[in-house]
Amino acid sequence: MKEKLRSQGWFGKTGKDGFIYRAWMKNQGIPDYELRGKPVIGICNTWSELTPCNAHFRELAESVKRGISEAGGFPVEFPVMSLGETLIKPTAMLYRNLASMDVEESIRANPIDGVVLLCGCDKTTPSLVMGACSVNIPTLVVSGGPMLTGKYQGRDISTSDVWRFNDAVRAGDMSQEELTVAEACMCRSRGHCAVMGTASTMACMVESLGLSLPENAAIPAADSRRKVVAQLSGSRIVEMVRENLRLSDILTRQAFENAIIVNAAIGGSTNFIIHLLAIAGRIGVELSLEDFDRLSANVPLLANLQPSGNYFMEDFYYAGGLPAVMRELDSYLHRDCITVNGKTHQQNYQRAACFDPKVIGTVAAPISPLSGVAIVKGNLCEHGAVIKPSAASVKLMKHTGKAVVFEDIEDYKNRIDNPDLDVDENSILVLKNVGPIGYPGMPEVGNMAIPKKLLEQGIHDMVRISDGRMSGTGFGTVVLHASPEAALGSNFAVVKDGDMISLDVANRSLILHVSDEELAVRRAAWKPRHKKYTRGYVQLYQNHVEQAHLGADMDYLRGGSGSEVTRDSH
Ligand code: FES
Ligand code: MG
Repeated sequence: MKEKLRSQGWFGKTGKDGFIYRAWMKNQGIPDYELRGKPVIGICNTWSELTPCNAHFRELAESVKRGISEAGGFPVEFPVMSLGETLIKPTAMLYRNLASMDVEESIRANPIDGVVLLCGCDKTTPSLVMGACSVNIPTLVVSGGPMLTGKYQGRDISTSDVWRFNDAVRAGDMSQEELTVAEACMCRSRGHCAVMGTASTMACMVESLGLSLPENAAIPAADSRRKVVAQLSGSRIVEMVRENLRLSDILTRQAFENAIIVNAAIGGSTNFIIHLLAIAGRIGVELSLEDFDRLSANVPLLANLQPSGNYFMEDFYYAGGLPAVMRELDSYLHRDCITVNGKTHQQNYQRAACFDPKVIGTVAAPISPLSGVAIVKGNLCEHGAVIKPSAASVKLMKHTGKAVVFEDIEDYKNRIDNPDLDVDENSILVLKNVGPIGYPGMPEVGNMAIPKKLLEQGIHDMVRISDGRMSGTGFGTVVLHASPEAALGSNFAVVKDGDMISLDVANRSLILHVSDEELAVRRAAWKPRHKKYTRGYVQLYQNHVEQAHLGADMDYLRGGSGSEVTRDSH
């Protein structure tokens, strides 16, 4: 056992090297026996006061440490780049791949035998899982948990209300003063966004992949049981090291299929697609955009959670949480998939129960027959685009309209509320240059706000198409992730005002009614208008990021480099 631990490639050495590896550690007051053959467990911490959703992670790490010590391991907490969704400009997504590199190299370069990933705010989950996959040592995820439900003027609110408040202020139905009060009411506890936005979607993703202990996904950050799951995870990772249970043992093709099916049933974020594709790329599992459509096609919506439904993550947990959904999906899932606790899905979830049918439906009586994501294709997006039917308006799912085109986000902001803008409720808003290369980083602007003059007429949804993403808390008939993006001079780059576009979700098509000849002429005359960066990380990103339908990872980060202990440093 001892010689198998990679940490002994540092601490197990004699002479000068062993001295160096141990002596400096001892300045932290560590007794010699801690370094003599105990599994060393890294706690990869995305704590940061600039990532408010993860600001309680130092405390959570203490619970993980307690579990590690209890099971005979030696805990070492280390920081990695933390990505806060709300503050980072131009978008946290630009840095997901950078953070994943930090995670990968930090794990491999250090004397770590197993790792607990502390994940919360949207990008902190995929970046950590991606990085860990490229090393492939025993790994377990502990999520930070959602915030408590917001309370404003006697009603429940959460992140999805940001978009409603914004429309209300623009329509003159809410004052700036009321908006300021609502700010404090919405984020009233530790934790990440309290709806089935991207953070909660990611927490459900890791649990359905088998990367966390059961129940991890939904326990509120402020609930004492969050710390219990953290402590149990700490003791479990030590056993995983002893069993040599690695990410590649858990992340099989079937595990990915399970995650896709569960994501459909919970009405998870569209960002799930991009992150799961990137994770699959790292661990070497074949996964395509079509898999998401095909696997979720017949899955009913079981979770009645905002933004697709009515309730909040707190309600979800009290109603039985993800285990209740997993149990109900029994006949849809691969039940033999192994999870981090060494048990199968079936063993973990067979006794789960639903305590509130308003929040978690059944396959026989689902919240909605519409779930998941649909992948549309056509000459406007040859590699596909994404729409979330459960968050869209039924009457717009088959719609033909005249394009109102915005060349980039500044163009959109300058003109959207112009009273002279030639737009009506049947128009289709098109926003270009918000893709991975074009923005850069593919921001969450795809659910662009409706023109003010239409809002005043009571119009709250229109077909909107972009090469960007939308927040997992967003909703509407929005077509996202159009690939190839405008910055590549694709057909999407040459759509013009007045072109007719047809969206037909049932037939999975998105057609621009312009002839191939005309499109070829337009593409030949096309000139890029996005900013090209000439140095630093952003240049690297623009040169190497793959398109959305592949997961927007860097081309050179696909796969992994293993966990081999490299040469000594002195
Ligand atoms: Fe962090 Fe929503 S802003 S999870
Ligand atoms: Mg987000």
